Amino acid sequence: MASLFDQLEIRSITMKNRFMRSATTSAYAREDGTLRQPIIDLYRDLAEGGIGLILTGHLYVLNSGKAHQGMAGISQDSHIAGLKRIARIVHRNGGRIVAQLNHAGIQHEPDRAGPSEYAGRNWRSRAMSEDEIQDIVGAFGDAAHRALTAGFDGVQIHGAHGYLVSQFLSRLVNRRNDPWGGSLQNRMRLLTAIYEEIRSTVGNAPVMLKLNCDDFSPDGFTVHDSGFVVQKMFERGVDLIEISGGGLGRREELIARANHDDSSLDEIPFAGHAARLRAKTGAGLMALVNGFRTLSTMRNIIERGLVDIVSMSRPFIRNPKLVQDLQVGQESATCIRCDRCLAPNVFGKEMLRCHLD
Ligand SMILES: Cc1cc2nc3c(=O)[nH]c(=O)nc-3n(C[C@H](O)[C@H](O)[C@H](O)COP(=O)(O)O)c2cc1C
Repeated sequence: MASLFDQLEIRSITMKNRFMRSATTSAYAREDGTLRQPIIDLYRDLAEGGIGLILTGHLYVLNSGKAHQGMAGISQDSHIAGLKRIARIVHRNGGRIVAQLNHAGIQHEPDRAGPSEYAGRNWRSRAMSEDEIQDIVGAFGDAAHRALTAGFDGVQIHGAHGYLVSQFLSRLVNRRNDPWGGSLQNRMRLLTAIYEEIRSTVGNAPVMLKLNCDDFSPDGFTVHDSGFVVQKMFERGVDLIEISGGGLGRREELIARANHDDSSLDEIPFAGHAARLRAKTGAGLMALVNGFRTLSTMRNIIERGLVDIVSMSRPFIRNPKLVQDLQVGQESATCIRCDRCLAPNVFGKEMLRCHLD
C-alpha cells in the first residue's frame, strides 16, 4: 500500500513524497514576462518546505497567449535566466520542478482568438486560422525546449480551466467543422499535436497534463470525454495527469456531479469523478487537485489508491512549509479557501500572498 511520504518515480525523475504544488501564478512578473525577485523568493520558501514536486505558475508560450497582467512568460530566450534561478533553488533543496505551459486563447485580451467564435458576457472571440494553430503547436515545443534549458525536470501542458487546450476540447466552445473540431477525437487534435511536438523536443523528460474532469457546463466537456482523453493520452506516453475541473460555461450547481458517494471524501469535490477516471488510467499516474485540507483525507486517498499524488495550491499560498508541518503531526492545512488571494484588487496588482490575516 502506498503512503503519502513514499517516493514516486515519474519516468526519469523521483519525487521524494506524494505532495505536489499545483500550478499557481504569482501574477507578479514584469510586463515583459520576466520574473521579479519576490517570485524567486517564493520558490525558495516552497522548495525549503519539502514538497515533492513543484509546478510553476502558468507560463505563456506566445505573447498572444498571455492570460492576465503579471503572468510570467517562456515565449522567448530572455525568460530563461529568471526561470533558471528557480530551478536551481528547487534542486538545491532536493525538490523537483516542472514548468506549466499555457496559451490563453479567448482569455487573451484584446484579440480574443480561440477555436471558434464564442460570445462571452460583453465580448466575442474570433476563430483561429490553421496557420495560427500550427504556430501555437510549434510554440509549445519551443517553450518546452526553453524549460529544459532552464534546468526544469519536465513540463506540464495546461489543458484545464477554460484556456486554449480546454477550449478546443469543449464542444461548447469548439464549433469548428474542420479536422480541429467536431468529434472528440478531432477536438483532441490540438492537445495531441502539442504533446507530440513537446515529446519530440524533450526526449525522456516527463511530460504532464492538467486536465478537467468536467467543465461543469451543460453543453461542454464531460467526465465521459475526460475518460477518453485520459486513456488516449496515457496510450501516447504522457507521464502524469493532474485532474482538476471547471471551464467556460461553468455552472456552480453542476459541481456536485463530481462528488464521491463516500462522505469521508467530502472535502475534495472532484473525488467521484477521479474514481471514474481512475478506471481509465491503467498503470498511468494520476494527481488530484482542489479542496485538500486534512491529513486524514490526504492519507485516505493515497492509501486506497484513488490517486497517486495529492496536489494543492491555496494551502501552500498560506503556508509554503505545509508538508513539513503535516509530517510532524499537524492535522490540517490552515487555508480556509476564502479566495482573497484572487480578489480583483490584489490579483495581478501585487505579489501573491495569503490575505487571511
Ligand atoms: C492565486 C491562484 C493562482 C492560480 N494559478 C494557476 C495557474 O497558473 N495554473 C493552473 O493550472 N491553476 C492555477 N490555479 C488553480 C490551482 O492550481 C488549483 O487548481 C485550484 O486552486 C484548486 O486547488 P486548491 O483547492 O488546492 O487551491 C491558481 C489558483 C490560485 C488560488
